[in-house]
Amino acid sequence: MNQSLNILFTASEAVPFAKTGGLADVAGALPKALAKLGHNVVVVMPRYYSIDKAGLEHIPGPLGVPMGPMGELWAGVYKDTLPGSDVPVYFIDYEAFYGRGGLYADENGFSYTDNDNRFVFLSKAAFQLCKKLGFAPDIIHAHDWHTAAQTVLKTSRYAFDETFKKAATVLTIHNLQHQGQFFKGVMDVMEVGWEHFNPHELEAMDGVNLLKGGIAAADAVTTVSRKYAREIQTPEFGFGLDNHIRAHAHKLYGILNGVDYDEWSPAVDPYLVQNYDIGEMAGKASCKKDLQERFGLPAWEDVPVIGFVGRFAEQKGIGLIAGAIEGLLHLNVQFVMLGTGEKWAEGFFSDVAARYPEKFACHAGYSNELAHKIEAGSDLFLMPSLFEPCGLNQIYSLRYGTLPIVRATGGLDDTIQNYDPATKSGNGFKFEWATHDALYHTVKWAVETYLYDRDAYRFMQKRAMEARFDWESSAKQYEDVYYHTLYAKRVRNYQ
Ligand code: ADP
Ligand code: GLC
Repeated sequence: MNQSLNILFTASEAVPFAKTGGLADVAGALPKALAKLGHNVVVVMPRYYSIDKAGLEHIPGPLGVPMGPMGELWAGVYKDTLPGSDVPVYFIDYEAFYGRGGLYADENGFSYTDNDNRFVFLSKAAFQLCKKLGFAPDIIHAHDWHTAAQTVLKTSRYAFDETFKKAATVLTIHNLQHQGQFFKGVMDVMEVGWEHFNPHELEAMDGVNLLKGGIAAADAVTTVSRKYAREIQTPEFGFGLDNHIRAHAHKLYGILNGVDYDEWSPAVDPYLVQNYDIGEMAGKASCKKDLQERFGLPAWEDVPVIGFVGRFAEQKGIGLIAGAIEGLLHLNVQFVMLGTGEKWAEGFFSDVAARYPEKFACHAGYSNELAHKIEAGSDLFLMPSLFEPCGLNQIYSLRYGTLPIVRATGGLDDTIQNYDPATKSGNGFKFEWATHDALYHTVKWAVETYLYDRDAYRFMQKRAMEARFDWESSAKQYEDVYYHTLYAKRVRNYQ
């Protein structure tokens, strides 16, 4: 039998406690799946202002976190578990860093200027907590730029610390666009030694790039789909780090995210007016009607509703949608959009809604309930991302029998097979080029398939609903990476 591992899992967000995007879904689910495989996982995240202390267990005694010139800062620690499991989640409580409205940015979307200190602090606090708890990790699993510093800390400041002696580090890139590029003064706060400030490690454009340094120091790097693992090695998707990633490609793996079917399944979803599943699809029509009413659209039965849920960010292809929307609204369709982010997009889509009140509706905001209703009540789901490391909404859509229309990039390409009218195979509609034309024609094709080839549509719908992307299989792939990395490290170190 394989050895049970101690895994330190530090993330900047995790459901159900704090979420801005898919990272939270992953951090709330993967640790549970790893625990089910027999591992001891400890999750560490900030105690943001929005997380009420009242429901948490207080861990007595302060936690000292060395922060270079800032001195030793003293944090509080709180504890809970991931719902439906025994997996502990430790919250680092430090008012001056986390006692604010946003996770990373203020209400106008401006990133907090001390994000370097805030997340280096989190990275270090997790290490100090391990020492306090007597938890010696085999694997230190960091996520994105926020905790990437951990891999550097492990090879420098904590290199000879007994608690971390046997640990290997794994860094998961959920999104290469955000790299944590800061003024180089954070080198002193990290206390990792200026010898790591060089173009092969932390230095970029005379500043510190935390993700870059994290990639260099990690024993293994993973990203959230196989296609994205290849894409980030190219200039088009590398955001300036493709060269660096190619240099570390020998330790790069692509592991697709799973989804939590306890939360995202039309058979049990509490947000739906009527549940449904393959074999008893009547509820989907009720959900469509409910969605149309909720968004103030006429409840046309035979017109396909196209849903969109996501951050209003360039990544998600909102520019493509905006450019193509006038043409798309000449089709026999209705659009329902839910998103928040770029102010121009919130204004633009609200304006389209005002001009086409029967065909287009937009809720500029964040609502888990509406996200569920859109997955269930739509006939088609639009996700024309310019890049998409994995993407979760297209996978949720499959389970809800809402066929995805996607651009062939990253996880979208790995999870969606294009409809082939000759063989009636596929589970969605896919296009390559990020152009308004390609988007328009693919949506038109999907709409026509829905309207005029119902058999093909139903066939695909059934296939989509049968597919499973469960966390168990993703967790087993992480486990393989963990064992392999530990083994390789031990062989190297003759341990
Ligand atoms: P990303 O992490 O790049 O934002 P993903 O597809 O991986 O993209 O995950 C997005 C997650 O955030 C999904 O669970 C989605 O339902 C949720 N989400 C995004 N925007 C909203 C919103 N405005 N309201 C509710 N949920 C949202
Ligand atoms: C990122 C990516 C998204 C991915 C999520 C979880 O935010 O943009 O594609 O699904 O992380 O890994």
